[in-house]
Amino acid sequence: MAENPVQTDKLSEKQYEYMNLIAEIMDIRKLGEKPLAFIRTYGCQQNVADSERIKGMLEKSGFGFTETPEDADFILFNTCAVREHAEDRVFGNVGALKNIKRKHPHILIALCGCMMEQEHIANRIYKSFPFVGLVFGTHSLHHFPELMYDALCNGRRVFERGNDDKKIYEGFPIRRDGSFKGWLPIMYGCNNFCTYCIVPYVRGRERSREKDVIISEAREMIGSGYKDITLLGQNVNSYGKTLDEPLSFASLISEIDEIEGDYWLRFMTSHPKDCSRELIDAIAGGRHISRHLHLPFQSGSDRILKAMNRHYDRKKYLDIVSYAKERIPGVSLTSDIIVGFPGETYEDFKQTLSLVREVEFTSLYTFIYSPRVGTPAASMDDPIPAAEKSKWFRELLDIQEEIAAKRCASMVGQTERVLIEEVKEKTGELNARTSGNIIVELEGGESLVGSFRNVKITSARNWILKGEIVKE
Ligand code: SAH
Ligand code: SF4
Ligand code: F3S
Repeated sequence: MAENPVQTDKLSEKQYEYMNLIAEIMDIRKLGEKPLAFIRTYGCQQNVADSERIKGMLEKSGFGFTETPEDADFILFNTCAVREHAEDRVFGNVGALKNIKRKHPHILIALCGCMMEQEHIANRIYKSFPFVGLVFGTHSLHHFPELMYDALCNGRRVFERGNDDKKIYEGFPIRRDGSFKGWLPIMYGCNNFCTYCIVPYVRGRERSREKDVIISEAREMIGSGYKDITLLGQNVNSYGKTLDEPLSFASLISEIDEIEGDYWLRFMTSHPKDCSRELIDAIAGGRHISRHLHLPFQSGSDRILKAMNRHYDRKKYLDIVSYAKERIPGVSLTSDIIVGFPGETYEDFKQTLSLVREVEFTSLYTFIYSPRVGTPAASMDDPIPAAEKSKWFRELLDIQEEIAAKRCASMVGQTERVLIEEVKEKTGELNARTSGNIIVELEGGESLVGSFRNVKITSARNWILKGEIVKE
């Protein structure tokens, strides 16, 4: 038995009835014309996956979609709380909706996602943005139709934050954004409480979806032509702990890998504290698992890692990396780094730089520390001025640019299998991606988008490769 069993429920019939009711009301209001929704998603792929479920429910409620907020009957921002900058952007963009609401008073404006799970934010929205009619958090997706119906019909503002951490809901209609690249959540929430991070507070406790549900969603995606599937969770390495029959992430991914088809499997995010050798062996032995490991280390200084509550040290991190390099030749490593955590000195920061040099990452997601209300780090002493942190940040970017350029240059002459993702608007060239998640630019027609090709790498510019399709 799991320590913390989580109950799985289905999206209820009642919610489907609300979707029908919304369709009826909108039909009367629009006199047979299709109502339109404008959805903007901020933040990480978890939010993207949630938006795909919200869009699924809206589609079942009779809505079409528009990219122009002025044309919409329903506007929704799915928000992110991870850094102050993310929140500021939302506030700025919500402010700009005031004019649209003035011109089209019938519009329902809604906000959801991680920011809305914070009481101080929901209160600020309530007071400062009276034109926002519906606010709900990450725990309220399973009764979104009911909340929307209430906001549309009852002439009052609907604000809801939830905290039901013991449940998972299945059976959502899903309207995926892409037709060959897709997201598959395998778990929700996070139990790690890294001292800088807001995610556990806004997404609740860790809970894993049942294996059979995940496998059948993967089968369905592969069957309908998805070529690049990313398994999502804040810490995929602790997958399975809340299941009745606990199961490791390595076993889950190996089982998905057995599904026949032409596709790549990716996953995000691995936490180094429980990144097992079993997982690295699973990648090495996998048929579809991409040779890429996104393994955020945040800081190269043991003192700072401890203050961050990360539960690993530099040595453990480097041990995993060297095992991955040994077992998966050419493995592409990427990471997240925070610069300027409270109390970090330049000496600590130099440890981050030396780790970056030692590992030689393909690419990095780098962030300047941003204090988050309610997290332990927000009340730690933070004496380093912002200008100094920016200088360190620049130094890190310069070093990484050099490393990425060197790594890309070393790939010239190799043949790589790539997935062709899009036609670039500006140049008409194709953008493709290697299994290691490196971008390759190619010549070719739009008909190739969504297909795998072998490509000879002909040149490298910084961290971008250029290539030519190999005739097969
Ligand atoms: N669950 C993932 C990370 C999710 S948040 C993990 O543990 O790796 C994505 C990244 O945002 C984090 O890895 C971290 O680098 C960054 N981040 C989170 N909180 C932050 C904060 N308060 N300030 C700056 N960066 C932050
Ligand atoms: Fe945040 Fe840490 Fe959880 Fe990642 S593992 S979501 S950084 S608390
Ligand atoms: Fe942001 Fe929430 Fe993801 S805070 S990073 S959208 S889990």
